[in-house]
Amino acid sequence: MSEKATIVLNRNLRIGEIDPRLFGSFVEHLGRCVYGGIYEPGHPEADAEGFREDVIELVKELDVSLVRYPGGNFVSGYNWEDGVGPREERPRRVELAWKVIESNQMGTNEFIQWCRKTGVEPNMAVNLGSRDFDAARNLVEYCNFPKGTYWSDLRRSHGHIEPHGIKLWCLGNEMDGPWQIGHQTAEEYGRIACEAAKVMKWVDPTIELVACGSSSLEMPTYPQWESTVLDHTYEHVDYISLHIYLRNPDGNIPRFLARSLGMDDYIKTVIATCDQIKVKKRSDKTIMLSFDEWNVWYHSVGNTKKIEPWQVAPPQIEDIYNFIDALVVGCMLITLIKNAHRVKCACLAQLVNVIAPIMTETGGRCWRQTIYFPFYHASRFGRGIALSLNLNSPVYHDEEFGDVPWLEAVATLNDAGDSLTVFAVNRNVENDLLLEGEVREFLNYKIEEHITLTHDDPLAVNTAEYPETVIPAVILDTKIEDGILLAKLPKLSWNVIRLKKI
Ligand code: AHR
Repeated sequence: MSEKATIVLNRNLRIGEIDPRLFGSFVEHLGRCVYGGIYEPGHPEADAEGFREDVIELVKELDVSLVRYPGGNFVSGYNWEDGVGPREERPRRVELAWKVIESNQMGTNEFIQWCRKTGVEPNMAVNLGSRDFDAARNLVEYCNFPKGTYWSDLRRSHGHIEPHGIKLWCLGNEMDGPWQIGHQTAEEYGRIACEAAKVMKWVDPTIELVACGSSSLEMPTYPQWESTVLDHTYEHVDYISLHIYLRNPDGNIPRFLARSLGMDDYIKTVIATCDQIKVKKRSDKTIMLSFDEWNVWYHSVGNTKKIEPWQVAPPQIEDIYNFIDALVVGCMLITLIKNAHRVKCACLAQLVNVIAPIMTETGGRCWRQTIYFPFYHASRFGRGIALSLNLNSPVYHDEEFGDVPWLEAVATLNDAGDSLTVFAVNRNVENDLLLEGEVREFLNYKIEEHITLTHDDPLAVNTAEYPETVIPAVILDTKIEDGILLAKLPKLSWNVIRLKKI
């Protein structure tokens, strides 16, 4: 039997402006993300620079706004100087984070070229693991300083006359993790990050900086790590990072779908920590959040150990996502939008092949994984203003998360104010959910479309042979009657209900 949930759509229930950078992603020198993913000279679809045009097309279709690069754990052992200048002179290196050989055939300048082709903004990470702030400030000078200095002239000699103008920079990666090359305590990292931030901004005062927060909410040092790091860096940085990968260890679908509530709690805790330091420092400045790694990740856990070390670009961490994973990604996107007043950047980790929405065969086809679709819808229709919904939903009980609403939802209103979108997940495994939305404030709007992603088999996947096993469909009987939106949300479904001004 179907149960009923209610929402209210009202402009005054404004959460905040959605920064376009909320729909970012991540490209790391890891597995086949770069080599065989975005860059594959000799592939039939490769352009003159060796970038796969079939992949670029899908990245454009996703309307990815921001891409973080070059890592990840990789960045903490990376010498950026290895990746610039003539390709034939670039060193092959032992890459310790992922136990592979790095050929350095792609580097900073090629990444910027790829960004320009794809229309995404670069988010560059610096190595604060095996290197110090000197290498970091040199990289800013190489990339952003116009000319007339050693590093800027080196860039020009490499054929890049105009500065790259990279605005957003990460001060290292997951420095709280013992697995990280150059792992540090919060005190150590806070000091180094502060000094790096100072000199990087002295080279280019227009840049924005992201300090490393915890690698996950399960770290023993969370959230004291954030507190200590911000104590050192508060006036020098603009964002603190968050990372989360949701897993499904026991195959319990309702619990897996509830895990986005933990993500919401994580965001709220980090906001509170930032604001506590703000008060302590009597600062006027508010630190924003950059959720610069988030996704579902569990299918490939353990596989990396089975891969022979010291290969070039082996197939590491290639999760094949099923239909339920797409719903969890949908819940995570809704969670990000619900916190859009403070989460200003977010990167779906990663973009191609490595825990990614886009898969490729080296030398062959590319296709859309199940998780591609919620990201596509959110990125296409989730821009503008985030609206909360005064949501009232029946709940189910979970031992870990307590009462969990069947309905997860948020709305967005575009900047022009003529397009309103409700994003909704029905977490119910057995029953459809009737959605009643009070839309009296939007009386001159009509239903444009109700898109849904649903499947009878929770474990259904898309593959190169069958790329359309899990794809969105349209529901036709959604309507507005007497100022009430009436929709049926199928059991286990992701829904995008779009209203347009008449
Ligand atoms: O995205 C894969 C890895 O996950 C990244 O390299 C690291 O930052 C995180 O632990």
